[in-house]
Amino acid sequence: MDDILKLVEEYIKEKDSKKTWVAGEDWVQYAGPYFTHEEYVRAVKTLLNGWLVLGAEANKFETKFPPLLGKELGLFVNSGSSANLLMLLALTSKRGRNLPKGTKVITPVAGFPTTINPIFQIGFEPVFVDIELDTLNLDLDAVEKACQEHPDAKVITFAHVLGNPPNMDRLMEIVKKYDLILLEDCCDALGSTYDGKKLGSFGEMASCSFYPAHHITTGEGGFVAVKDEQTERIVRSFREWGRGCYCIGKQNLLEKGSCGTRFNCWIPSLPDHVFDHKYVYEEIGYNMKPIELQASLGLVQMEKLEEIGLKRRENYRSLFKAFSKYPEFFHLHTAQPKSDPDWFAFPVTIKDGAPFKRSDICQFFESKMIQTRPYFAGNIMLQPAYEGLHDKDEVISKFPIAHKVTTDTFFLGTSPVINKEKTDYIEYILDCFVAAIRI
Ligand SMILES: Cc1ncc(COP(=O)(O)O)c(C=O)c1O
Repeated sequence: MDDILKLVEEYIKEKDSKKTWVAGEDWVQYAGPYFTHEEYVRAVKTLLNGWLVLGAEANKFETKFPPLLGKELGLFVNSGSSANLLMLLALTSKRGRNLPKGTKVITPVAGFPTTINPIFQIGFEPVFVDIELDTLNLDLDAVEKACQEHPDAKVITFAHVLGNPPNMDRLMEIVKKYDLILLEDCCDALGSTYDGKKLGSFGEMASCSFYPAHHITTGEGGFVAVKDEQTERIVRSFREWGRGCYCIGKQNLLEKGSCGTRFNCWIPSLPDHVFDHKYVYEEIGYNMKPIELQASLGLVQMEKLEEIGLKRRENYRSLFKAFSKYPEFFHLHTAQPKSDPDWFAFPVTIKDGAPFKRSDICQFFESKMIQTRPYFAGNIMLQPAYEGLHDKDEVISKFPIAHKVTTDTFFLGTSPVINKEKTDYIEYILDCFVAAIRI
C-alpha cells in the first residue's frame, strides 16, 4: 500500500507542477477544489482499506468538524441541501419539537433554493421577507414585521449570504423576543465570524455544504451541527433510513450495541416480541449518508480552512478595490460591522440607471474567460418550479430588493483557485469594459 500511496503523491505533484494559466486563454474559474496530493493520498488509502460506508474516518470527522460551526456535535451528510432538509425534519420529530404541518417558517425570498425547499417538502408554510441591498441578507425590519403579523411563526431559517452575516445582535433579540427556533444555513459561511463568534454557533442547528464551490470540499457532502445529543440522534435517524440505532463505527460490532440492549422489546405495539434495535424505526427516514472516502477528504481539507480563508479575504479585497473605482455603476456589498466574512464570492449589483445590463458585463467577462454567476436563484418564487404558488406581480412588488438582485446582481469568485495574477486580469478586463461603455 505504501508504494501505491507514494505513486499517487508523485503523480499529483507532477500533475500540479505542470499546471499553467494563460490570461484570456484559460478560464478564471469562479471556484474549484483546493487540493494537493494530501487529499488524494488519504482518500486512496481509505479506499484501499476496503471500508466503504461511514466508519472510523467519518467518526473522526464528525468529532473534529462541529467546532468550525461553533458547536460540539454533528453529522456528516451527502449534501448541504440534505443538511438543510434534515434541520427542518428534526423539528418534526415526536422525540423533539414535534412541529406539525403548516408550521410557519420565516425566511428570505431570495437566495439558494434548497435553503427554503424543505419548508415546502415537509409541508410547513413559508413566511417570506425581503432582503436588504447592502448585505443581501434578510431584512431585519421585515423580519420584525413578519413576527408581528404572524405571532404563530415558530422557526426562522436563512443563509448567511456569501459568508456575510446579518446584524446578529438584532437578529438574536428578535429570535428571543418572539421565541423563534433559529436554523442557520452556513453552506456559504464556513470560517466566517460575527463579534468573534463562529457563524453556526447562534442557532439551534447549522448546516454546511462541501460541494466543490464551497470553502472546503468532499466532492459532494454537507454537515448538520447540533447542540445536544437528543437532536443528534434524531438527525441521525432521519439520515439513516429512520432507524433508532445509534451505533457508530466499531460499536456496530458490539454484541449488545451502544445502547447496551440491542435485542429488546423495542416496538410498543408488539410488547412481547424481541426486536434487533438495528431494525427499529423511530422516524420516517431517508438515506442521506455520504461515504467514508469523503470523510477522508474532509479531514484533510478542514486543516486548510484557515489558509483558504486568508486567500478568499485577499481576493475579496482585490476585487473590491477594482470595482470601487466605478461607484457610478456598481453597488458593492460590504461586511456587517462586527463581522469577518470568509467570502464565498464577490457580489456586485449594477446600479439603477447604469448604461448597461448585467448580461452585458457578464457576457463580456465570460467572453474573456472569466466565470460569473448570478446571485443564485434571485427571488426564488419567480423560478419556474414555484409558478402558481404565488401571484407573480405581487411577488415582484412585495419584495423590491429581491427583484433588484434577481435582475442586476452577479458574482465573481474569491476561491483560492484564484490568485493575484487572476484578480489583476479581472481588473484589467473590468477597466476595458468600462472604457468601452464610456466612449
Ligand atoms: C446557501 C446555500 N445553501 C445550500 C446549498 C446547497 O448545498 P449542496 O450543493 O451541497 O446541496 C448551497 C449550494 O451552493 C448554498 O449556496
